[in-house]
Amino acid sequence: MTEVDVIDDNFILTVEPPNDIFAEFVHHVATTEGWAFQLNDYEIWKNCYPRHWLFMVQETGSEKYVASISLAKSKLRDGSSLYTVAFFYCLVEYRNKGFGKLLFDKIQTIYGDHNCSLFGVGSMWKWYEKRYGFSHLQPYFHSAAVIQCKDLELQTSAQQFRIELANVRIEDIEENIDKLIKYDKKLCEMEREQVIKQWLMAPGVCSKIALNVDDDCVGFAAVREVSLNRLNISPLYADSPQIATKLLHTILSNFDFLPFHTISTVFPSVNSSVLELLRPFCDGKVTISEFCRSQFTQQLFTVDEMKIFGIRHCAHGYV
Ligand SMILES: CC(C)(COP(=O)(O)OP(=O)(O)OC[C@H]1O[C@@H](n2cnc3c(N)ncnc32)[C@H](O)[C@@H]1OP(=O)(O)O)[C@@H](O)C(=O)NCCC(=O)NCCS
Repeated sequence: MTEVDVIDDNFILTVEPPNDIFAEFVHHVATTEGWAFQLNDYEIWKNCYPRHWLFMVQETGSEKYVASISLAKSKLRDGSSLYTVAFFYCLVEYRNKGFGKLLFDKIQTIYGDHNCSLFGVGSMWKWYEKRYGFSHLQPYFHSAAVIQCKDLELQTSAQQFRIELANVRIEDIEENIDKLIKYDKKLCEMEREQVIKQWLMAPGVCSKIALNVDDDCVGFAAVREVSLNRLNISPLYADSPQIATKLLHTILSNFDFLPFHTISTVFPSVNSSVLELLRPFCDGKVTISEFCRSQFTQQLFTVDEMKIFGIRHCAHGYV
């Protein structure tokens, strides 16, 4: 960790904290906000993005860290850059003292006039828009769907699941990774081959690809074990709800999900088929709530929402 600046007599601004501090914050953000991270995410940010900064506010002369913000720089396929913001968090007892603004001011000096995006949670989007110019807003919110794992039911008939798709087969991703990356390029402007590979093959992740009769990718999905013993569907991309269902059904059939508390997905709320897709998995016992909003400083990207049944993650991506 490196000191960047002295804030006052009691606090300093640092960058690149040790892994155990990241782990501590993964626990904090899960406990107070319900956010779903893996300890391995920090490694992916550091190793797979062209540039990455994790700034933190630290108490002077102690190992106590009180606030964090993560900024990553990505290359887009047209050669330009996209900055993304994540992990913006302050310990509850240190809020409203100006640490959040200090951290955001710091990253603004880096992303400057470049396009920068984030997912504003709850009503935060208004603050980002007003204070930091994130004025290009997706016209819809992203919702979170949460199912209790004890309510998961995979014995429902294949007909109810609509998974009788003879022309689509589900395979492991390892031997099909090039097809998967080609598919991802159609959905996301970011050059994120390394991110996707590391993400899907990380420990505690079960990933599958859907292939059609021509052996082309028509969807892929991952279920990840995240903090506080939960599962996260991230991503679930597919050409149709039926393919998405088949992917999720195959993964969950190969997964011992009973030790986990919940399984969730974050998706563009305009894709109303997500609810229909999830219902047969849990006899309708799914809770949906408005979660966050995708916003940019310079330019909004179009997203093929009908193919997004679960975004990859709110951190460092826009789809
Ligand atoms: C957001 C957060 C990091 C700000 O940290 P902080 O140290 O309390 O921030 P500051 O004291 O510098 O004040 C930040 C500003 O954010 C505003 N703010 C905080 N929470 C907000 C919310 N839920 N909705 C809208 N604005 C909010 C504050 O009112 C304040 O506004 P001001 O600039 O008009 O004074 C902190 O509130 C937090 O950890 N919240 C929970 C996690 C979270 O929601 N993070 C953002 C995810 S997109």
